[in-house]
Amino acid sequence: MAGIHSVSIVGTGNVAHHLGKAFRDVGISISDVYGRNNASTNELAHLLYCSVAPTLNELTGDLILLCVSDNAVIDVASSISVNRRLAYTSGSVPLSSLPIRTFCGVFYPLQTFSKHREIDITTVPFLIEGNSEQHESELMQLASKISQHVLSANSNDRLNYHISAVFVNNFVNHLFSQGKAHVEEHGLDWEVLKPLIFETIGKISDLDPLEAQTGPAVRKDEQTIERHLNELEGKSKEIYTLITQSIQQSAKK
Ligand SMILES: NC(=O)c1ccc[n+]([C@@H]2O[C@H](COP(=O)([O-])OP(=O)(O)OC[C@H]3O[C@@H](n4cnc5c(N)ncnc54)[C@H](OP(=O)(O)O)[C@@H]3O)[C@@H](O)[C@H]2O)c1
Repeated sequence: MAGIHSVSIVGTGNVAHHLGKAFRDVGISISDVYGRNNASTNELAHLLYCSVAPTLNELTGDLILLCVSDNAVIDVASSISVNRRLAYTSGSVPLSSLPIRTFCGVFYPLQTFSKHREIDITTVPFLIEGNSEQHESELMQLASKISQHVLSANSNDRLNYHISAVFVNNFVNHLFSQGKAHVEEHGLDWEVLKPLIFETIGKISDLDPLEAQTGPAVRKDEQTIERHLNELEGKSKEIYTLITQSIQQSAKK
């Protein structure tokens, strides 16, 4: 049977929810879901109008999509019959690290997903890889049903996109947390920072990040940097120092 007409989902976390809903909304049949946690598996099955598979080998979809933590991908894949068509959603697990199987691939959405935050899936880049031309092409066709931005990417390119994603999303978000904690420790209002955050993000649609950089580090306002460091301690001081040095080195190039 050519093409992927139905999908089974393994895992019940952020990505399982968003991809499941995206498939449901465009009319791709979700056959069933499988998860370790009964409550979250039942909740996802209810959301996707599908059944719960009692074991991995009772999943019935044309494609089994593993939306499990990176470090579980190989174990879970190894428990599924080698003739079933499989794909996983991790950015950093190389396809070559999985045991040999007939159809194996990657269905990586380069976006940040949180279960309870809506996202426009049509704008999400999907990085696709397959262990055969046929499987890759079928995964690309499936991704094209939910997104307008589908590209083929090998494991090395995907790893490098993922590293970049960690910098621009996870690290930036961690810095938001640091900034929030700092003002709140001083009894100040986090909301006052929000226009600056939105403008910081908005600027990169028009400017290269190197051109967009402002602040004491790039201006080499050493007295200001010293005043800030005097107020900081521990990890926050280390992060401030390291990023200040990195900004100054990048500006020199
Ligand atoms: N969130 C994102 O923004 C994002 C974006 C792109 C790609 N990804 C990738 O998508 C995958 C899932 O991410 P996520 O954010 O959805 O993670 P998550 O919300 O933490 O969900 C992970 C799921 O994997 C299940 N799981 C973990 N170990 C398992 C095992 N040994 N056997 C069976 N199930 C297991 C968990 O089950 P329990 O609930 O029982 O622990 C949970 O349902 C990861 O590879 C991640 O790198 C994530």
